[in-house]
Amino acid sequence: KAMDIVKEFEEKCATPVSKLRQVADAMTVEMHAGLASDGGSKLKMLISYVDNLPTGDETGVFYALDLGGTNFRVLRVKLGEVDNVKKEFEEVSIPPNLMIGKCEDLFDFIAGELAKFVATEGENMQIPAGTQRELGFTFSFPVKQSSIAGGTLVRWTKGFNIEDAVGQDIVEELTKAMERVGLDMRVSALVNDTVGTLAGGRYSDPDVIAAVILGTGTNAAYVERANAIPKWQGLLPKSGEMVINMEWGNFRSSHLPLTEYDENLDSDSLNPGEQIYEKMISGMYLGEVVRLVLLKMAVEAEFFGDTVPSKLEKPFVLRTPDMSAMHHDATQDLRVVATKLKDILEISNTSLKMRKVIVELCEIVATRGARLSAAGILGILKKIGRDTVKEGEETQKSVIAMDGGLFEHYTKFKNAMQNTMNELLGEEVSKNIIIKLSNDGSGLGAALLAASHSQYREYTE
Ligand code: BG6
Ligand code: GLC
Repeated sequence: KAMDIVKEFEEKCATPVSKLRQVADAMTVEMHAGLASDGGSKLKMLISYVDNLPTGDETGVFYALDLGGTNFRVLRVKLGEVDNVKKEFEEVSIPPNLMIGKCEDLFDFIAGELAKFVATEGENMQIPAGTQRELGFTFSFPVKQSSIAGGTLVRWTKGFNIEDAVGQDIVEELTKAMERVGLDMRVSALVNDTVGTLAGGRYSDPDVIAAVILGTGTNAAYVERANAIPKWQGLLPKSGEMVINMEWGNFRSSHLPLTEYDENLDSDSLNPGEQIYEKMISGMYLGEVVRLVLLKMAVEAEFFGDTVPSKLEKPFVLRTPDMSAMHHDATQDLRVVATKLKDILEISNTSLKMRKVIVELCEIVATRGARLSAAGILGILKKIGRDTVKEGEETQKSVIAMDGGLFEHYTKFKNAMQNTMNELLGEEVSKNIIIKLSNDGSGLGAALLAASHSQYREYTE
């Protein structure tokens, strides 16, 4: 009976190439719709106001803040050094109560940490006397920008839910909090993590055309032709380009292999009905899907004996890093799986056969996520015409800057994604599509964008 549950789940999760192509095509269609009008699609296709990517000529000391991943980061970056950049940073975890509390409390915390960090400024990282410090703010949530340094929060995603912040201008909130803690700093750029990663990636590689985050959440940004954005009301930028934050986590399509477990996960989440693609792919959710299947096996098929382990009933106890550790267990008797089951779920005395089934479940869930994210990337490549090699044309390299803990640490996920890309694109095209880990590219990217939008820029040029 338990094996029937696994088998049925596996069948429902299947992602043959034909299905992935449908997902990619649906992604391309939604991209067009989201660019045509606000509210035209589940894909928001947010305009970033980044129409010039870093060139490598940026100079000066800039600060960056990064909020929205597992950790909150503050950075100080010196651009234009002999070795190009010098970076100092600190990482703090956000107290969980602040993630679902009041807007002011969250921003006071952030501004306080930033002020502490500024106080550690060493002599070699100082800004010229009489100038104001400037900051690039990576805020990894959907924001409707009104300029490069302003925009309102559309909604929270991942584990955050602070109602009184929705609809507020994020830069204003941060600026007010900095005033409250007595920190004099100007926010020069507000960017999504995907946009920051794209900018950071472009700094060291001119072939970077898109960025993807596979971490707590998932999302992508890419460089679009400005005249292919019907909803853009402003003047066409000189570069002719505009970076678009897709917010692809909210993608949804009838072609997605959704199961009853995904539906339960969604309805019990902080944001029911939203971020469906993200809930099938990203690090915040993969372990939870595995837990839900195991729970059903325990309840309906007595997989763990005649009582249901009470720990297994607790949402989010099985975290994706633990799932990954079980999935990568290379010991013959699956000792890592046994230890994790004992430590996390207080389940002991499992047979090797049971542990193998659990590894299989991890494989099903991770593979589905990895393959779906590859289909999303194919959707972007199709939209910008980089999914084929055109005869007679010189082949162009396309680099995708990638960041996020899921891609960085979950090796089997990463490999499945890369293999699926090759499968979808074929050998010849694959050679020119490069996925490049760009660790904390977004912090650097935000500092670079702060530099190119600095209030002192005209004097330093
Ligand atoms: C970081 C980015 O490197 O990756 C963050 O700078 C981003 O802004 C993060 O959110 C995603 O990683 P994770 O795995 O911590 O969610
Ligand atoms: C969520 C956020 C998005 C972010 C992504 C990765 O999907 O909505 O803005 O880019 O997570 O951190």
